[in-house]
Amino acid sequence: MSTISPDALSPIREAKKITTLTFRRKKERGEVISMLTAYDYPTALAIDQAGIDCILVGDSLGMVVLGYPNTLPVTMDEMLHHSRAVSRGARYALLVGDMPFMSYQAAVSDAVRNAGRFLQEGGMDAVKLEGGRERAEAVRQIVSAGIPVMGHIGLTPQSVNQIGGFRPQGRDAAAAKRLLGDALILQDAGSFSLVLESVPARLAKMISGRLEIPTIGIGAGAGCDGQVLVTHDVLGLFDRFTPKFVKKYADLHAEMSRAFDQYRLEIENHIFPSEQHSVEMPDAEWQEFLDRISQ
Ligand code: KIV
Repeated sequence: MSTISPDALSPIREAKKITTLTFRRKKERGEVISMLTAYDYPTALAIDQAGIDCILVGDSLGMVVLGYPNTLPVTMDEMLHHSRAVSRGARYALLVGDMPFMSYQAAVSDAVRNAGRFLQEGGMDAVKLEGGRERAEAVRQIVSAGIPVMGHIGLTPQSVNQIGGFRPQGRDAAAAKRLLGDALILQDAGSFSLVLESVPARLAKMISGRLEIPTIGIGAGAGCDGQVLVTHDVLGLFDRFTPKFVKKYADLHAEMSRAFDQYRLEIENHIFPSEQHSVEMPDAEWQEFLDRISQ
């Protein structure tokens, strides 16, 4: 098992904003791209300080923060609200806003207008949208408006009802061929990068080798040009279910429960607040106050 030197943790990051050009250069140099989701200011701050290249304000927000059963109820207003919070916390990472369900599917003009809102109102640098060849025209038009687009194929959670659940994609020859075709079409339409979610590792590696733009894998093996995970999964904050491809780096749900239990116990046993956590006033002022109210 390889170990990581403590010096590599929390690197003093090169004080340079990550751009879509950085993505392209990293791929050319064979450097791996790191990406995580965030939905609020403190998480964005910590991810940015850890030197992660890209923060996605994912519509996974709906499940891991807002408690919806899937991502379908998420609205543009919710996405913009959380995008603004993230943009206040991150200085260096490339910020990508995830276009929610029905913000780009009905008409290309909606897609361009809503993509623009992520930059104008949400403080994002780019947008992501789900789907393959059927989204090529929307991608082309958004890009021609000057907005960088990250594609997303494979398991596309906004199509959960069509694909029959959160299940891996591209596992037979025909589906694999279609995914490769979609990847090439999205690159051709102008996407600067492509998320491959829950697809066989050897297919993801092959697609990554065929594309000039970087691929970002989630449940797609080590052959992608970058990796993304949902932060609440990484931190053990979302306990409804954990996909097979998630690696938990902390168990913050358990840590939160421990802290809340301790807080309740200390209140019930008059341990908190102690003098240390209280505010006092000078004795003379207190005496004068008592004199005044007794008159
Ligand atoms: O919404 C999200 O968090 C995503 C990632 C899983 C890629 O789309």
